[in-house]
Amino acid sequence: MSEDADALRARFLAELDRAETAEAVEAVRVAALGKSGAVTALLKSLGGLAPDERIRVAPVFQALRDALANAVEQKKGVLAAAALEARLAAERLDMSLPVPPEPLGSIHPISRVMDELAEIFADLGFAVAEGPEIEDDWHNFTALNIPPEHPARAMHDTFYIGGDGAGRVLRTHTSPVQIRTMTGGRPPIRIIAPGRVYRSDSDATHTPMFHQVEGLVIDRDTHMGQLRWTLETFVKAFFGVDDVVLRLRPSFFPFTEPSVEVDVGCSWEGGRLQIGGSGSWLEILGAGMVHPKVIANCGLDPAAWQGFAFGCGIDRLAMLKYGMTDLRAFFDADLRWLRHHGFGALDVPTLSGGIGA
Ligand code: DAH
Repeated sequence: MSEDADALRARFLAELDRAETAEAVEAVRVAALGKSGAVTALLKSLGGLAPDERIRVAPVFQALRDALANAVEQKKGVLAAAALEARLAAERLDMSLPVPPEPLGSIHPISRVMDELAEIFADLGFAVAEGPEIEDDWHNFTALNIPPEHPARAMHDTFYIGGDGAGRVLRTHTSPVQIRTMTGGRPPIRIIAPGRVYRSDSDATHTPMFHQVEGLVIDRDTHMGQLRWTLETFVKAFFGVDDVVLRLRPSFFPFTEPSVEVDVGCSWEGGRLQIGGSGSWLEILGAGMVHPKVIANCGLDPAAWQGFAFGCGIDRLAMLKYGMTDLRAFFDADLRWLRHHGFGALDVPTLSGGIGA
């Protein structure tokens, strides 16, 4: 009987030695120590032996069982360690590898200018407001004192949507955000609203989609002097020039009274545009005191509340500041143009760190 034990020990240890997977080790364990395993059978046979024989062989069988159980555990440990090693080697990351030499992508000059606007106006206490690009006729026109059939509607080459009678349009300007802000909250109000606008117009200086920024201040005794100071402070910070002269020319917009067009003084030295001085003039935006009818249309009492508004083309601002000459290139998605004119993603405009240029 103890000879059997030696033979079983040699056989199972050899099998364990050859086992290369956890499943193979488990199969050896079941064959030796499982319910109907060979070693289990040997242990069961003890009951049928004469007492003195049993006393002699029992320790041998039990030692065999313990030895094989240990060997199984040990082999399992060896295989698990090897599996872990293999996985660590396969999933290895070389943290010392250099990052790709060029960052992929860049911030578009339009986004950059919008960030600069938000930063400059935040410093003056303005929040950033938004409105939908698909507007209804009331917000885009009627509430802004441009009733149906009003000739001022002809100033905008509107994209009408749907033909379902719902009167939806692609907003032709950011001015409807004035309406949404006044109907959606209580004064005092100080917001800018940068965003996309749409007009059915396309040539070298017009694209069917372009960008505007709207400004709106509503308070109890707001006046044109504050409008002028706000615009001057903005232009100085945006172009990084102290010697800024603004010229306000009387104009007409249905939603402001009085209305002005604002020119900034500039010069053309050596064919290059310089902001500053008053040698030449460049029109940059429209503005005015918000029309009392517009204030009333928003449910506010025009005898108690008044304010100023302005609207400015962002694409034009970007071209003036960063020296692009063709508006259409903004929307061509030409990678070479984007690489040249784009901004680094981590290069965020701040007043302390400098607003671009
Ligand atoms: N909404 C006008 C346009 O697109 C621009 C404008 C002019 C906005 C005067 C204003 C303003 O807020 O006061 O042509």
